[in-house]
Amino acid sequence: MKRVKIMVDQEYDVIIGENILNRSGEFMPKSKIYNKAYIITDDNVLPIYFESVGKSLEKIGLKVFKHILPNGELSKSVQALKIILEDMAENGFDREDIVIALGGGVIGDISGLAAAVYLRGIDYIQIPTTFLSAIDSSVGGKTAVNLEHGKNLMGAFKQPLAVIFDVVSLNTLNDEIFADGTAEAIKYGVLKSPSLFKKLCNFSRSSLMEIMPEIVSECVAIKGEIVSCDEFDRGERQLLNFGHTIGHSIEKCSGYAITHGRAVAAGMAVITKGAAKLGLIPNFSIYDQICEALKRHELPIKCDFSACEIYNSVLSDKKRKSENINIVLPAEIGRCELKKISLETMYSIIKEGLDG
Ligand code: GLY
Repeated sequence: MKRVKIMVDQEYDVIIGENILNRSGEFMPKSKIYNKAYIITDDNVLPIYFESVGKSLEKIGLKVFKHILPNGELSKSVQALKIILEDMAENGFDREDIVIALGGGVIGDISGLAAAVYLRGIDYIQIPTTFLSAIDSSVGGKTAVNLEHGKNLMGAFKQPLAVIFDVVSLNTLNDEIFADGTAEAIKYGVLKSPSLFKKLCNFSRSSLMEIMPEIVSECVAIKGEIVSCDEFDRGERQLLNFGHTIGHSIEKCSGYAITHGRAVAAGMAVITKGAAKLGLIPNFSIYDQICEALKRHELPIKCDFSACEIYNSVLSDKKRKSENINIVLPAEIGRCELKKISLETMYSIIKEGLDG
């Protein structure tokens, strides 16, 4: 079993192991005795993992409640959040109780936000069940739901007390959902680690599975290092948004039919190509390398939306600052830079990135 410490104000561990979900109770923080656990999950995850997690929490004396959402991004809504909060109130939840997010990124994000706002904040734990949520959304305390204007527009920073990830849960993911996580792992490689990037270029899903605890802990350590320098996203943490400005727009334009990882994959390729064409990065070699890694895992490198559609959606993105926008550009594999550009340049990058 591996543990990666996330050194934020209230530090916590990401626990990565095999067949550990039925030991979830053991990993609960020892500093406090909780009475009730509110497990939020979805209809895909419920039949596979709820029982082992629930029983393990009952074993340590918790009364377990569950709340089941339909799987998919559309569950990350204000309406779904309100129903959760009303249900917690109806069942008498208070600050001696705890929320457990059991599922992928959607579940982690909405559960974290419920924990952040209920009674102005109660404790919660993340139990991610997808590759993507294990290496990204479960770590770092960003919680959110979507508004009609865009993704993650309503949210709060709220760190979990622990993250428990069972690598065995990856066995039940279809190839598309697994590749979603691979897109985020490729992002970490481009940001900070040429060696991780190389593994992702060379290995297929089955070979990656053999070294999954190592891959997950490397990604989580990279994220942890960035988050510990900038918990509240004022500077360096924005590097984690590589591919996300265009990625979020692709997701939104598709009505969330295109999954997060695939949209980020296309977002990384489009922004890198556009920036290379405009001379904002030195050459096309970084673009070629990123495309090679993405194609290895059958991830997209472009999308069918027009430059206007993507640009209009970017305008409502929360990363926009007045007439400028912060974007992340790779300088080389293993090093990226934040750059403030005008909206006009953003449009040109999108147009050039989508062309051809
Ligand atoms: N997913 C980007 C972040 O946590 O900052």
